[in-house]
Amino acid sequence: MARTVVVAGATGLVGGHVARRLCAHAAWSRVVVVGRRPLGWSHPKLVERAAELTSFSAALADLPVTDAVCALGTTHKKAGSKEAFRAVDLDGVITFARAARAAGAERFVLVSAVGASASSPSHYSKVKGLAEDAVASVGFAELTVLRPSVLFGERSEARPLEAAAIRVGRWTGGLMVGPLAPYRGIEAEDVAAAAVGALLRPGSARRVWTYTELMAGREVA
Ligand SMILES: NC(=O)c1ccc[n+]([C@@H]2O[C@H](COP(=O)([O-])OP(=O)(O)OC[C@H]3O[C@@H](n4cnc5c(N)ncnc54)[C@H](OP(=O)(O)O)[C@@H]3O)[C@@H](O)[C@H]2O)c1
Repeated sequence: MARTVVVAGATGLVGGHVARRLCAHAAWSRVVVVGRRPLGWSHPKLVERAAELTSFSAALADLPVTDAVCALGTTHKKAGSKEAFRAVDLDGVITFARAARAAGAERFVLVSAVGASASSPSHYSKVKGLAEDAVASVGFAELTVLRPSVLFGERSEARPLEAAAIRVGRWTGGLMVGPLAPYRGIEAEDVAAAAVGALLRPGSARRVWTYTELMAGREVA
């Protein structure tokens, strides 16, 4: 059956790789991206829909979909406040998940972060955990939560602290084994390949992938 997938966050690092990989894969005949900015590239399978965080359902109203990937996210620094961060990483994620489910999506992949937990003392991890719990309650037949640590990849914007973490992470990654493995940095490309793999492998109502499962779950075709 021809599948249609919708991606939120496709102008971002992980989401961009996800959208390109989905366009290149034979399993999907249509790749819908929803966002506030144009992607800046095109593909015969690609459909772009302008949408703010609050208007995802209107953007998907006439487009039945089978699958969805959420790679939305910001940082406290970029957002400017805890509330603004939460508006993207929690409220925006929930709105997108509900819109995708209403449009018919049975499978959902959420790009979250290592350490996500609704009971975490860290605001970032708590918001990520709350988002995971909220998406799990939306009612997808299959939900895969990806929990990467630091993402490696080329960004157009400067993120000096992250760049330093990436340099250290690339050097020390091989030492992070056993209980430290989930905290190993990962190429954004690999997270994207895992997102595609998660949509293609039979899943469950909620499964969580950290570094080891992300690497094993990559779709390499
Ligand atoms: N960076 C890391 O090291 C890291 C580590 C672990 C987990 N993660 C998580 O992985 C996911 C993907 O990260 P990434 O680095 O690929 O993200 P990114 O490059 O910053 O892209 C984020 C996406 O979210 C959209 N977005 C952000 N704020 C928005 C707003 N106010 N309204 C509408 N859209 C908005 C962006 O759209 P615009 O292009 O329009 O801004 C973009 O498409 C995120 O959930 C992030 O928290 C990141």
